[in-house]
Amino acid sequence: MEHPETKAPPLVYLETYGCQMNIADSELITGILRRAGYGSAARPEDADVILLNTCAIREHAEERALGRLSDLARLKHRRPNLRLGLLGCVAQHNRARLVEKAPGLDLVAGPDSYRRLPEFLGQAGFDPIVDVRLDRGETYAGLGADHGVGPRAYVTVMRGCDRFCAFCVVPYVRGRERSVPPDAVVRECRELAASGVREVILLGQTVNAYRFAEVDFGRLLRMIAAIDGIERIRFTSPHPSDMSAGVIEAMAAEAKVQPHVHLPVQSGSDRMLVAMERGYTVAQYLELVQRLRRAIPGLALSTDIIVGFYGEDEDDFEATVALMREVGFDSAFTFKYSVREHTRAYRLGDSVSEAEKAQRLSAVIALQESISLARNQAEISKVRDVLVEGPARRGGGMLSGKTPQFKTAVFPGTPGLGAGDTAAVRIVSASSHSLTAIPA
Ligand code: 5AD
Ligand code: SF4
Repeated sequence: MEHPETKAPPLVYLETYGCQMNIADSELITGILRRAGYGSAARPEDADVILLNTCAIREHAEERALGRLSDLARLKHRRPNLRLGLLGCVAQHNRARLVEKAPGLDLVAGPDSYRRLPEFLGQAGFDPIVDVRLDRGETYAGLGADHGVGPRAYVTVMRGCDRFCAFCVVPYVRGRERSVPPDAVVRECRELAASGVREVILLGQTVNAYRFAEVDFGRLLRMIAAIDGIERIRFTSPHPSDMSAGVIEAMAAEAKVQPHVHLPVQSGSDRMLVAMERGYTVAQYLELVQRLRRAIPGLALSTDIIVGFYGEDEDDFEATVALMREVGFDSAFTFKYSVREHTRAYRLGDSVSEAEKAQRLSAVIALQESISLARNQAEISKVRDVLVEGPARRGGGMLSGKTPQFKTAVFPGTPGLGAGDTAAVRIVSASSHSLTAIPA
């Protein structure tokens, strides 16, 4: 009897840079390629295809990706059949220029090109393929991502951004805003629940701008909250101006929506907020914080802050410091402004020196450390439900997971307790980055 020919599947090694959207996109890419017959390689040395999914938000991120690309291109000397692809935001940002910059590159594909990856990788030939067409309609709805293991999963609900903040390259590299049909989102969440996922993090560049026909983000939250097995719902990142009463009401009404909002403020100076074209004032932001805190007891808030945007003077910076103190964020991602080609602020250039930016950045980091510590210490003696993710890195039978406020809590395990279970714990000590607890 003849045996069917068994050929080892080609192996793909995929490396991911940047935000949660990119992590989710890589899960999608892995799903697309697996269904097309590709296997996964754990190391670039073992792969037939190497893909980098890249981030262009700041120059540093882009340089890192390009540096890594030229390292990996060296593997081609020994393995001429190896194919090398650059995906994601850096691909979209640099387009065909990349082919000249990075010899050895076989494929340049932007965020709306992933559906065609099997076709591109299947093509023989020596000319690099560049596909960076943005597609207003592409949501990858129902395409099926290979979600990672664990009780938490990312679910992309909208893509792109229509806001065009002056500093930001996202609208240029990820294109116009579009939402995934709600039935596709609900189906994906149901499947995740059936596979053991307990918490979903809904993703979108301006996630609360979600709208599909008459379903807005508040409605979507309620639809997902109705799914059995999904115990916790989070989302990132909302834009302050899209935080409608309906969204706040849904967050307050649905116990599954967790009491944590990542609400990027960028600056505490009205002058800077206008220059950044953020669409709100400091007073409006503070008013929103107040409404959220009133509606959602125990709410944790985190934010993004940029220092050294074009024109930021000492007073503007001090206004940011004052806002951080006033709100008392639980945590903050802080960045030095990085000039990005294509953006509205690009032609202005840089007005704050690198040394000044670095100094302002250290100051906001130090300030946030002390605020985070105080916010975490205020958790001491409280009882919180932790969704267990697994053994803590510090070992010793300790488990780790997140509180509803999305703070990492580490506590001694008890028999039978494991990933995906929820445990009530009492917080006994706190650092600026995590909480230590005991079973309550
Ligand atoms: N320079 C510095 N930080 C930036 N961000 C976006 N664009 C830039 C830039 N050009 C930050 C913003 C945003 C986060 C994802 O990255 O704070 O909220
Ligand atoms: Fe960038 Fe502004 Fe859109 Fe956020 S809302 S992705 S900062 S343009």
